[in-house]
Amino acid sequence: MQIFKRLLPLFFVQNNIRPILIFSLKICQKQPLFYKFGIYFTMKKNYTLFIDSGIGGLSTLAEAYKLLPQNYIYYSDNANCPYGSKTKKQIFEIVKNIILSVKKSYNIKVVVLACNTATTSAIKNLRKTFGEIKFIGTEPAIKLAAGLGYKKIVVLCTPATAKQHKYLSLAHKTKSKIKTIKMFKLASSIEAYFDTPSQKNKVWLQKQLYFARAKCKNFDGVVLGCTHYVLIENMVQKIFNKPVINGNFGVAKQVLFVCTGLRQQNTAFSDNFCKNQISKSPSSNSNNFRNIKNSSTKNIIFMFSRQEDGIKEKYIKTFNQILANK
Ligand code: DGL
Repeated sequence: MQIFKRLLPLFFVQNNIRPILIFSLKICQKQPLFYKFGIYFTMKKNYTLFIDSGIGGLSTLAEAYKLLPQNYIYYSDNANCPYGSKTKKQIFEIVKNIILSVKKSYNIKVVVLACNTATTSAIKNLRKTFGEIKFIGTEPAIKLAAGLGYKKIVVLCTPATAKQHKYLSLAHKTKSKIKTIKMFKLASSIEAYFDTPSQKNKVWLQKQLYFARAKCKNFDGVVLGCTHYVLIENMVQKIFNKPVINGNFGVAKQVLFVCTGLRQQNTAFSDNFCKNQISKSPSSNSNNFRNIKNSSTKNIIFMFSRQEDGIKEKYIKTFNQILANK
């Protein structure tokens, strides 16, 4: 009983259950006003909101979900995809309005910008605008690649990311040599390929990557500076024939820390982290220590700025495929 008394407030806080006083008004014909009081409970769960312009952020969510399978909302701003061709101001306004609209119906404590373009363009102003929310951003994993000893690093990213001060200073700070390649159509082409996985769409993706590859000489690794590109990591690895790195696991660790206060420090885990983050060969992804037994998405809410037939099912399928392949 004593334990129950102690745990009860914790349960209430974690689930954001708030007692509220409700009174109902009953007007009877002959009687004066009659009030009925009662205490009811509102139960509004806390959610961590992931935002991307489309399907790319699913790769980030999958990493976070494996570390912390809590309540998530995945917001795909498919009406405004791609962000990569938009201005800083446009991206800030778009993401701000998404947060405002989701906040109306859900209790949001943490927002993850599962998008390099949104992070480099808008995270600073979003933090100023929503002081009560904790923001986690996604940036090209240049530090990780440099830490692995790569002296010459190719970064593939959107045109919007490539021109942001946040990205330029990140690239400038590292001792490694950075070659930035702006991929003008790649994110949209990945959307098209996941929508219709035809040979024609695949060849178009490959062409863009071969074109980018032709611009690079003597490099040690490739950083994927857009969450969409993680979905075609194996294709990038085959074409560039070098280790390919993404920053999703770093974001997942940050989600774990911000939401629970726990840090992922286990060294065995870190070793596996490196194995997992660098796809040296297309088959290396299947050799992973982390197994998701239950790839259910029951605690993830999917939201879209433009509704399309079967879109939610498509996202769930892709999400489960990412989890299964990791
Ligand atoms: N997935 C996003 C990123 O990481 C945005 C791609 C786009 O919409 O252009 O940059």
